[in-house]
Amino acid sequence: MKEKWWHNKVAYQIYPKSFNDSNGDGIGDIRGIIEKLDYLEELGIDLLWLSPIYCSPLADQGYDISDYYNIDPRFGTIEDLEELIAEGKKRKIGIVMDLVVNHCSDEHEWFKKACEDPDGPFGKFFYIKDYKDGDELPCNWRSYFGGPCWDFLPGHDDKVYLHVFHKKQPDLNWENPLLRKEIYKMINWWLDKGIAGFRIDAIINIKKKLPFSNYPADRGDGLSSINNMLKEASGIGEFLNEMADECFRKHDSFTVGEVFNEKDSELPLFIGDNGYFSTMFDFSTTFIDETDTATIEPVDNLAEKYKKAFFKSHKRVEGIGLLSNIIENHDEPRGVSRYIPKEDLTDKSKKMLAGLYFLMPGIPFIYQGQEIGMENLSGVKSLKELDDCANPDLYTRAVEDGLSEEDALKYIARWTRDNARTPFQWSDEKNAGFSEGEPWLMLNPNYKEINLAKQKDDSNSVFSFYKKLIALRKNPEYAEAIVYGEFEPYLAEQKNLMSFKRIDGKTVLIAANYQKEAQTVALDRPIKSVLLSNTEEINYDGESLRLNGYDFIVAELRNCS
Ligand code: GLC
Ligand code: CA
Repeated sequence: MKEKWWHNKVAYQIYPKSFNDSNGDGIGDIRGIIEKLDYLEELGIDLLWLSPIYCSPLADQGYDISDYYNIDPRFGTIEDLEELIAEGKKRKIGIVMDLVVNHCSDEHEWFKKACEDPDGPFGKFFYIKDYKDGDELPCNWRSYFGGPCWDFLPGHDDKVYLHVFHKKQPDLNWENPLLRKEIYKMINWWLDKGIAGFRIDAIINIKKKLPFSNYPADRGDGLSSINNMLKEASGIGEFLNEMADECFRKHDSFTVGEVFNEKDSELPLFIGDNGYFSTMFDFSTTFIDETDTATIEPVDNLAEKYKKAFFKSHKRVEGIGLLSNIIENHDEPRGVSRYIPKEDLTDKSKKMLAGLYFLMPGIPFIYQGQEIGMENLSGVKSLKELDDCANPDLYTRAVEDGLSEEDALKYIARWTRDNARTPFQWSDEKNAGFSEGEPWLMLNPNYKEINLAKQKDDSNSVFSFYKKLIALRKNPEYAEAIVYGEFEPYLAEQKNLMSFKRIDGKTVLIAANYQKEAQTVALDRPIKSVLLSNTEEINYDGESLRLNGYDFIVAELRNCS
């Protein structure tokens, strides 16, 4: 693996609408981000990914873009963004924008022109098909937010268009070279502005299996999950390689793909030395709690499943490239609520989870609020309190699968993307210090207990632990081992022990007792020094470590002589 400038970086994701509101309209904005740059610098962040802030009707919270070249007035102006880029540079923080090019908004001028003249050049930017009421749709794919992925083309009762997400997100037709040219022009315009790169949204969806065809129905609605089509679609590499050549490689930019379903043989193409992307997210742990039917039961064997998934995906890319590691993002529940059993959720177990994913091979991403241990929403009483466009289908599915209304709400509370989207908890003051006005989405009621003000100067807080983790990654003594060191699972078969070594000249052992009962870890070499831990009490007798529940420890081991 060739060394690249982004390999040793720590990234942070901002969901702008919920980060910090500078003008009291209840919506976070770019000026609010600028105000917090010193905070991010203090934490040790190098790359800042902003979820979309382009002009948008916000049907899917900005992932429906109506103008790629402008900032939505709710978030600020292009000048604000330029200032953010410049202020970031002063602090060595690179700005990473969200690239949403599987689809745009139905309010984008391309789509408006397509509606005016479906047979004209802009009609070919989208997937538009003739359709007579009563006919079968061109295919039976279910949109990600529920319901068929075809809708009438506005103004035409004899045509439908494809949207694999919300109906306000028409899919762009990547088979059309003119569309691709427009996209590359836009990407380069942004890169020339001095951003560090892009997080690339839903990119696996740009290649469709054509001609459109049905797949076996997998729910009572007679529709089929898009995954069935994606498994069969081939040829995406040509698009991705072209995009990398036309844009990213020229700028040596950082890119992180939202990629699912890639095949082993494709890994070098995606994230190898000259891959389409710098890196892509490791979503392996987000599948361990997937179930065929909706349930509110806790996952059994959680710790073992977590460990196995994580280890496997990093072994898979070893020597090829780096994955980007997360415990949550704006589409997922809060990691601490998901990967730690409810009854064991404490600052200590939160730190353990943080330490594990941070020291695995790869680039760590922190999602806003994660660094103070923000948790899932509790006490949701009605769907009306929530916002996300994916909620109604989630609820329907839960009820279809036999959950009572009460349990269906619990199911929503567990899975809704709103869990991650509640405003950042800066303090225990009005609206958690997020806004002077009424926040656009409910606050997590626990903000009085969990907030930054309370943790900032407490050296034992979750926040301080994240700072220490970042400092450890950047400590020149250990950076080589942690960034490039070989990854060796250690005692992988020992139940609920998640332990591994990072080896590069030095040997760093990371060990976590992922359960509440104590357990012993036999060491194959003596400890030279303890680099970090989430406990004061280290029980080491020269040969083994006795770990209490959720103990986490990082230690340098002596090298064999
Ligand atoms: C990605 C985004 C998600 C969005 C979807 C459609 O998965 O992360 O928030 O809804 O793409 O753009
Ligand atoms: Ca605002």
